[in-house]
Amino acid sequence: MSYNLLKGKRGIISGALDSNSIAWKVAKRCHEEGAKIVLTNAPIAMRMGEIKKLADETGSEIIPADATSMEDLINLYSKSMETMGGKIDFILHSIGMSVNIRKNIPYEESNYDYFMKGIDVSAMSLHKMLSAAMKLDAINDWGSVVALTYIAAQRTYPFYTDMADIKAMLESITRSFGYHYGKKKNVRVNTISQSPTKTTAGSGIKGFEDFYNFADKISPMGNASAEACADYCVSLFSDLTRMVTMQNLFHDGGYSNTGISMEVMEKFSGN
Ligand SMILES: NC(=O)c1ccc[n+]([C@@H]2O[C@H](COP(=O)([O-])OP(=O)(O)OC[C@H]3O[C@@H](n4cnc5c(N)ncnc54)[C@H](O)[C@@H]3O)[C@@H](O)[C@H]2O)c1
Repeated sequence: MSYNLLKGKRGIISGALDSNSIAWKVAKRCHEEGAKIVLTNAPIAMRMGEIKKLADETGSEIIPADATSMEDLINLYSKSMETMGGKIDFILHSIGMSVNIRKNIPYEESNYDYFMKGIDVSAMSLHKMLSAAMKLDAINDWGSVVALTYIAAQRTYPFYTDMADIKAMLESITRSFGYHYGKKKNVRVNTISQSPTKTTAGSGIKGFEDFYNFADKISPMGNASAEACADYCVSLFSDLTRMVTMQNLFHDGGYSNTGISMEVMEKFSGN
């Protein structure tokens, strides 16, 4: 169902790798809600065949950019404004990668070059995206930027290793830059803290299936799907949430505020 919430708006969506990606669903929902969009991903990570399908379905251009490169980001904004015919109204940062997780390295033995790479790709990239946008004055007044995060930034999830610290940094950048962009242009910056979701990045985490099921049993509403996350993103890109900024917003079916559920208690019941 479409409410035309993004009619006339222009957006940039990063991170759509394949049809399981959260960004993929966000792109489709934004298109349904009337937005013009540009799709972007790292040139080396991009599976052209896949992302081309999404571009065709949403009538959008693909502009490759490594989110760790200021040069690529400047080019992304310049080209996006050119192809869409004006400044940007919303941006989705949906970028995450930890080499330590990929290589199954325990947290206590983290490789620091990999750690730095993870910080650059998954957290500093948000700072760079915002800084490049500010430099070019690429975002319209009352624009909206959303980045995706996970509750391991607040509470310990041993298998999430260095990404826990990296997400904490991402959320901090959201607050810090949110202040400056709010002051300057009334641009809002928020993170959505999403339930475990079956995607390439998600499934790469050790024991993913188990903690996916655990979270599903803890949350009174069950895990929030990628489609529901896309709906939430649309609401944050729309004009209906103009005064929401510098927030970490849990989108998790109630997981973050639930101590224990009856389903999980039954698993440990002696009777
Ligand atoms: N899947 C989950 O369980 C879950 C839960 C909460 C938050 N998140 C977050 O959601 C976001 C999207 O992840 P996803 O689960 O859709 O997985 P995904 O693997 O589909 O998306 C991650 C994306 O990051 C891109 N990327 C990696 N390096 C990049 C670079 N240098 N420049 C530009 N793009 C780069 C990848 O190409 C990929 O498209 C991530 O920030 C992730 O941490 C995921």
